[in-house]
Amino acid sequence: MGFFKETIRNVPLSGDTVLVRADYNVPLDNEGNISDDLRIKASLPTLRYLLKRGCKVVIISHLGRPEGHEKKYSLEPIANRLSELLKKEVTFVDDTVGDTVYQAVRRAPKNSVLLLENLRFYEEEEKDSHAFAKAIVRSTRAAYFVQDGFGVVHRAHASTHALTLYLPSVAGLLLEKEYSTITKAMSAPKQPLVAIMGGAKVSDKIGVIERFVAIADKILIGGAMANTFLAYRGLGTGASKVESDQKETLDRLYTAAAAKVGAGNVDDFIILPVDVAVAPRIDPSEKRHIRAVTAIAADDIALDVGDKSIEIIAAHIASAKTVIWNGTLGYAELPEFAHGSARLALALATHPDIKSIIGGGDTADFALKWDGGTGNSFSHVSTGGGASLDLMAGKKLPGVESLLDARN
Ligand code: ADP
Ligand code: 3PG
Ligand code: MG
Repeated sequence: MGFFKETIRNVPLSGDTVLVRADYNVPLDNEGNISDDLRIKASLPTLRYLLKRGCKVVIISHLGRPEGHEKKYSLEPIANRLSELLKKEVTFVDDTVGDTVYQAVRRAPKNSVLLLENLRFYEEEEKDSHAFAKAIVRSTRAAYFVQDGFGVVHRAHASTHALTLYLPSVAGLLLEKEYSTITKAMSAPKQPLVAIMGGAKVSDKIGVIERFVAIADKILIGGAMANTFLAYRGLGTGASKVESDQKETLDRLYTAAAAKVGAGNVDDFIILPVDVAVAPRIDPSEKRHIRAVTAIAADDIALDVGDKSIEIIAAHIASAKTVIWNGTLGYAELPEFAHGSARLALALATHPDIKSIIGGGDTADFALKWDGGTGNSFSHVSTGGGASLDLMAGKKLPGVESLLDARN
């Protein structure tokens, strides 16, 4: 089954001016340095494809959530990094619409790259403003629009929706790869499919967990999310982070699980930790103390899955053919509480026959750092946070829906 939208491969491009929406919303450290350039690297195949065809490539993106024109969210440092990675000059244009943009694009030769300033310096972007979209088209005189910002296609903004009404709009290679890989794993996975859900909140991810109840062979739960499940099952969770308002949601989830596997088998289907690593406070000096989930004390904060649970998780991985992982298994910012996530990463890395898909902003960051920045130990590390969750949950993505349908 091919991708259901037209891509850059299906349009006759040669020497055209092409507007490319990338998602260069990359994490920056306190000094404003790029701390992870996965999203920039992932955009290169589309850019190279267009350059090979002599196009003038005009890239647009957002960075952060600025309130108006906030210099610290300028895309200029991204232009520099992109230029290093592409081994080619990238002209940074310090506006997004208007005469500065028009002149810069007009002057640029064929087979060149320009990056325009942060879309969100204009409040019209997030309002899905048609006037703003038209102004971008007028300023660039682009012939095509290429959506390649997978991480942002769950938003209906000017650069993901309104623009597509004014230019023939197709998908870039990153968007196609992300969409196809994730939907294939969700709709026709090699089985057994083991889903691993962790991270901060059940409420952030309930749509995905519900999909997994329908399609997965096992669902392993970790992270702060596991505390909410343990509390729901009547266990004491001490001073751990717990969402107290998820009873109805979890009632619904367990009812669906019981209908699928039988009431007596739910605990072998939705698998909760048997032990947790706790500390009295969240601090780099704290060591992990292991507690059975039946023995969590009042002042314990559960910050990772415990050592027995880690072995159980690794054993489930060993018998999987597809693993989809979303959400760290603990407070992985602190190495003491990253054991679960690290052991899981290792299990995936040492079973190259398993199709492993990693989604979620913090989870992808963790997996990449664990892997020395390459992501090569996994089949697919998604560049999308919210977008990959929405796609896995089966929601329609406005930035994809609005592209031209594939003709087949
Ligand atoms: P993603 O961005 O990959 O979707 P989330 O944002 O849901 O993941 O979850 C990652 C966050 O969850 C991290 O900041 C991590 O510290 C936090 N977290 C995971 N486990 C725990 C825990 N047991 N207690 C507190 N925070 C946790
Ligand atoms: C992301 O990082 O999830 C995307 O770039 C979207 O950013 P946003 O959540 O600020 O819309
Ligand atoms: Mg997160």
